[in-house]
Amino acid sequence: MFAAAALKSSDKTEQYAELCEQARGLLHGERDRVANAANFAALLYNALPDLNWAGFYFYDGNELVVGPFQGKPACVRIALGKGVCGTAAATRRTQVVRDVEEFPGHIACDAMSRSEIVVPLYDGDRLIGVWDVDSPKLARFDEADRDGMERLANIFLESLRGA
Ligand code: SME
Repeated sequence: MFAAAALKSSDKTEQYAELCEQARGLLHGERDRVANAANFAALLYNALPDLNWAGFYFYDGNELVVGPFQGKPACVRIALGKGVCGTAAATRRTQVVRDVEEFPGHIACDAMSRSEIVVPLYDGDRLIGVWDVDSPKLARFDEADRDGMERLANIFLESLRGA
């Protein structure tokens, strides 16, 4: 079994480069969506500091439905356009929320969450779902996290295509 190595670098960009390598190794040779989503969430939740939730919502053709995650039990269904997740899915843009209380319509699943990042997952024009990460720290996520999380999300999407 693949074992995640502790991150060597203290630089965020380098940390994401290390994590991308680990994620590629972890998902290599497997295309099953649940298996890869579960391992991906476990890898990142345990490797990155100051997180209280990390996981997937998948599009069922109508709305977003919670998928594999790490953290406390979460809201099950989110409509497109609602909350941070539904906004990321509807706008196709990563949402970096420095203070969840300032995001109109934020859906509070875990009262501990203070900031959040959500990356939309698209295969071309087809909505797959979103990758959602919450932190108990205010302004936990910045542009380096946006870049790193988008790279990681791409590795997950590529694994589903067997790339
Ligand atoms: N806060 C999200 C809901 C999902 S939880 O954070 C796990 C939102 O506003 O869409």
